[in-house]
Amino acid sequence: MTIKPEKINETLLHYAPGSAERSAVQQKITELKAAEVIIPMIINGKEVFTDQHVRIAPPHEHAYTLGYFCEGKGVHVSNAISAALHAKHSWAVKSLKERAAVFLKAADLISTTYRAEINAATMLGQSKNVYQAEIDSACELIDFFRLNVAFAYEIETIQPCSHEGIINRMIYRPLEGFIFALTPFNFTAIAGNLPAAPALMGNTVVWKPAYTQIYSARIIMKVLIEAGLPNGVINLIYTDGPVTGDIIFQHRQFAGLHFTGSTAVFKQISTTIHNNIDLYQNFPRIVGETGGKDFVLAHASCDVQALSVALVRGAFEYQGQKCSAASRAYIPASIWPSVREHIVHMLDEIKMGTVEDFSNFINAVIDEKAFDKIVRYIDAAKKDPEASIIAGGKYDKSIGYFIEPTIIEASNPQYVTMREEIFGPVLTVYVYKDSEWNQVLGIVDTTTPYALTGSIFAADSAIIEEAKKALYYSAGNLYINDKPTGAVVNQQPFGGARLSGTNDKAGSVLNLLRWVSPLVVKENL
Ligand code: NAD
Ligand code: ALA
Repeated sequence: MTIKPEKINETLLHYAPGSAERSAVQQKITELKAAEVIIPMIINGKEVFTDQHVRIAPPHEHAYTLGYFCEGKGVHVSNAISAALHAKHSWAVKSLKERAAVFLKAADLISTTYRAEINAATMLGQSKNVYQAEIDSACELIDFFRLNVAFAYEIETIQPCSHEGIINRMIYRPLEGFIFALTPFNFTAIAGNLPAAPALMGNTVVWKPAYTQIYSARIIMKVLIEAGLPNGVINLIYTDGPVTGDIIFQHRQFAGLHFTGSTAVFKQISTTIHNNIDLYQNFPRIVGETGGKDFVLAHASCDVQALSVALVRGAFEYQGQKCSAASRAYIPASIWPSVREHIVHMLDEIKMGTVEDFSNFINAVIDEKAFDKIVRYIDAAKKDPEASIIAGGKYDKSIGYFIEPTIIEASNPQYVTMREEIFGPVLTVYVYKDSEWNQVLGIVDTTTPYALTGSIFAADSAIIEEAKKALYYSAGNLYINDKPTGAVVNQQPFGGARLSGTNDKAGSVLNLLRWVSPLVVKENL
């Protein structure tokens, strides 16, 4: 096993019909569906079962039981905190090389041994098709584990100046206390990175995943333990959000929050932490990557075919449940008929259904609550004179939470689906007069409080520069002539500004720096 890995991204597998990787994942799906597991929490390295069993079902087949997870109570939160604090010293004094070895081994294990299992779990539990699972629970997770190690070594080389007779040294201590990783349902890789990144830097962690991601979270934990993660370094609990928060945010040794999820939850939690500030031994580090309302802005000079592909992939891969998903598009009137024809044609070709049929591009949205919320927007648009549905619009939750990829054309750029995060397969298009390019730049910038991702499509480089200038603060990740999704670790470090988060760039040195409290030592020789 290599220490100090090269920054090379994991190679994506393609799952072509007849390929070994396709057979392996199909077999794992069969095995997982037959298993009906009871999933314990993992506190201090021990499996913790409770009597409270919560059923897990595939979103695309909700009558089927995949298994149950053991829901915990307040006592489990407290036990997880104690375990993290107990494990802290012996983990923190290990060298970076020793800590890194665990995550490098975990990356290798996913790549070689658990790839099919973690992809199958992400497919079944979160309703991702195999290609979406592969970029997430295989490649991105492996990249986080492996490349964070390279970033951590880079940090150690950032040292102050020393002079003759004086040595100055920066020691990258972990934070004092424990870290809380609070993770979303939509990316297995994000769920794995949020506890792993602080742990790599010598911290110990309480990790609470979204209930709808527990089915794949348990495999991340299994891999980390097999890779040698000592007991108590990461404690995985399945407890209600507010119950967990009430205990964690009252704890004197709460040292940091690594959060990804909605803006509303982050605001609420940030307010609680702020109100409790006198309780803490240190000012907690708060890293939150939150919601988005990501734009695609097209100029009349753009490549219509490339734009159309980006709209369909950007808006509808993983049913639009990516924080980065294209959800509002601004298209000039001169090219709209052609763009519309292309995207409607592409959507006609797209299939929707279970993840077990690999030809389905669209699967189900995560749960009934999400389904009902998305449908409310679609139904309202059907009745609103400012909106017309130009593709999709049908839905059915009888077997799974299926919603057709839906495109709304809005006559008002401030129409509700141009402004609010829907987090589903709904793209709203505003068609502007070509002569109104300058006004549209202002509208894109000011319509939402978010600034996560955005795309500019244009062939004219002066136009691209003008748009980049006007939209300087409208995104944390900006794409030129590409879809706004699919950031790759170490290529497009990821994070948003404004109400999309603290912009601490997951998958980079910047994120890891949030999990250390440097000590500077001056020594006279
Ligand atoms: P969510 O905010 O509903 O939940 C996130 C986590 O917070 C879950 O573990 C949940 O159980 C917990 N939680 C919810 N309410 C809580 C409370 N009151 N106290 C403590 N914990 C609580 O988000 P989600 O539905 O899992 O994920 C979707 C959201 O995440 C979208 O808004 C999406 O844009 C965002 N997201 C952002 C990024 C990014 O990098 N910016 C990436 C992925 C997802
Ligand atoms: N990293 C994910 C993307 O860029 C959120 O789509």
